[in-house]
Amino acid sequence: MKTFIIGNWKCNPTTQAQAEQLFDTVEKGIKRIKSASWRNKNIEVVICPPFVWLPLISASVCAKGFGGLVFGSQDCFWEQSGTYTGEISPTMLKNLGCSYVIIGHSERRKYFNETNETVNKKLLSAFKVRLKPIFCVGEQEGEEMSLVVKNQLIEGLSGIKRTQMRNLIIAYEPVWAIGTENPCQPNEAMKAILFIKKTLSELYNRELAEEIPILYGGSLNSKNAKDYIKEAKMNGLLVGGTSLDGGEFIKIIKSV
Ligand code: PGA
Repeated sequence: MKTFIIGNWKCNPTTQAQAEQLFDTVEKGIKRIKSASWRNKNIEVVICPPFVWLPLISASVCAKGFGGLVFGSQDCFWEQSGTYTGEISPTMLKNLGCSYVIIGHSERRKYFNETNETVNKKLLSAFKVRLKPIFCVGEQEGEEMSLVVKNQLIEGLSGIKRTQMRNLIIAYEPVWAIGTENPCQPNEAMKAILFIKKTLSELYNRELAEEIPILYGGSLNSKNAKDYIKEAKMNGLLVGGTSLDGGEFIKIIKSV
């Protein structure tokens, strides 16, 4: 299975020049470390900028077209087109060259009232155009992980077929660990990941559950990243704040 290192830029940076510079640092850094060992390790780096910076990244990735670096968006709407002022559809993202879309991030749930039901509609819609969703789940401070995550999985994945599941990535992001410099320790995160696998086995089957990459996200940096991949053997990382520092993001990639 591939190892995924995903950078979620969130609502940053605020100018095109800064976005270009950040992407340039990442691109050059990856070129420097790309080697036979990179290909053997099967690492996929995914950059998820705000919608407005997607075209410039699309132009760069599509023009140079080197493997191992692709891009995605941080959200999408559930309809493909129509009278929905302000929305961006999965079809638009696909036509721009996006491979991935983050769906159900806790900040979307918190600030934009996204529910398991709307997350489910977005997942179904992304699958329709073969965008690969990065489906975020995780409990808030004081909540029982198993109860919250099980519910997010059951309701979020409602109606999603086995064949579609093969294109899914799940990111376990406990809300209390996001942007707090208080990461969930690898052994604790691993318990949640095993719980997610168990729930997927119950909802689908064991074989399929083993095929779905499950990532960790929350206060990752260039020092702690390798513990999740090398020691806890997770399938990848969803990196927020640290992905805004191109040099540190490259250090994360190197460390794993
Ligand atoms: P963080 O964010 O790395 O800044 O904690 C992770 C995320 O929200 O995906």
